[in-house]
Amino acid sequence: MDKTQREQILKWAFSPTTPIKKEEFFKGRIVQLRKVCEAINTEGQHAIVFGERGVGKTSLANIMAESITNIYPTKVTCSRTDNFRTIWKQALEQVQYSTTTAGLGFNAADKIGVSNLTNSLNLDSTTFSFDLIRLLTQLNGTKFLFIFDEFDNITDREVRKLFADLIKSFSDNNTNTTIVLVGIANDVDKLIGSHQSLERCLKQIRMPRMSDAESLEIIEQGLSKLEITAGESLKLKIIEFASGFPHYVHLLCKYACEEVTREERIKITENDLKFAISQGIDNTNEQLKSAYRKASIGLSTTNKWKDVLFSCAEAKIDEYNCFSIPEILLAYKNRTGKDVKGGSISYNLNQLCLKERGDILEKLDTGLNTRYRFVNPMMMAYIKLMISTE
Ligand SMILES: Nc1ncnc2c1ncn2[C@@H]1O[C@H](COP(=O)(O)OP(=O)(O)OP(=O)(O)O)[C@@H](O)[C@H]1O
Ligand SMILES: [Mg+2]
Repeated sequence: MDKTQREQILKWAFSPTTPIKKEEFFKGRIVQLRKVCEAINTEGQHAIVFGERGVGKTSLANIMAESITNIYPTKVTCSRTDNFRTIWKQALEQVQYSTTTAGLGFNAADKIGVSNLTNSLNLDSTTFSFDLIRLLTQLNGTKFLFIFDEFDNITDREVRKLFADLIKSFSDNNTNTTIVLVGIANDVDKLIGSHQSLERCLKQIRMPRMSDAESLEIIEQGLSKLEITAGESLKLKIIEFASGFPHYVHLLCKYACEEVTREERIKITENDLKFAISQGIDNTNEQLKSAYRKASIGLSTTNKWKDVLFSCAEAKIDEYNCFSIPEILLAYKNRTGKDVKGGSISYNLNQLCLKERGDILEKLDTGLNTRYRFVNPMMMAYIKLMISTE
């Protein structure tokens, strides 16, 4: 493969900023996809996919729409200005069908047209939900899948309640439609509120951060398309930096491969990774950069703010991606060699939860159960990149 060919492939082999659309590039997530399929194949069952920012929810939504056969999929990306009516309008406009009307006059040909489901329903009707269920039930030769991504943008409780009620009605009265809600949340209640009646009919699918094996699949697929190689330890470093966020896997690989291609080599070296890290830092979004600046600024030469921040990024996390004070202290000791007590960093930790220090951390529980987590989970990966440039 020559340089020009490689440059062409580089445009799509790694995609740090766009969700995956094609099954070929979608790696891992077998458990989550299986659960979605189970929901679709179970009468009266719907699903809610929730997880941290940037773990790959939209990519999963795209793949379910693309890869599940024998189903009519529609996907709507909800925005902050949407309401129940505008969301369903966008969904129903996507359900198109052809119409045939008899032509006027002797021997006139039939007219073939295209219509969509909004024409069959009055979106402003007070009985809209009822009418929608009845219409879709009548079309029972077809199975429908409605995916509503970025559902976390719907903050109006009334709209969420309308969705909850509608899902319950679908579950009770319709068998050929599945609704899947997708959004950023640490728990389901945050996304749709708490409705006991939904418990049985709404399958909860948590999207965790990627496992090392899943991240490795992304690296290997991209490298093989580009016919570029990398040592195993270098791949592991990329995985460690990315901390389970596929965005960073794509980002580091993309910049490293760009450098390899520019110099017409075929193997990624440690220097390429260094270059990729500095590019990755430069190209991180402004919100993360500015929060980090606020959090790490300090007057003394020994910057305690940085030490505490870095220790948080290196602390062992639990299954909810939170870390405890003992874990932070352990990381702090590994980093500075200082064996300090919780009291000596508690001021810094509490300040990092405030706006003046970038709203970096969120404190959960108090006393012995105190735990922290990054407000923007991708901050963890960003800090790890910063640490490596020291
Ligand atoms: N299964 C996957 N295989 C390969 N790459 C993936 C996969 N899932 C996500 N990615 C990549 O990770 C990045 C983030 O993915 P995506 O936009 O789907 O995440 P998200 O959870 O929807 O993010 P947000 O919370 O910001 O909406 C994208 O660059 C995408 O290409
Ligand atoms: Mg998304």
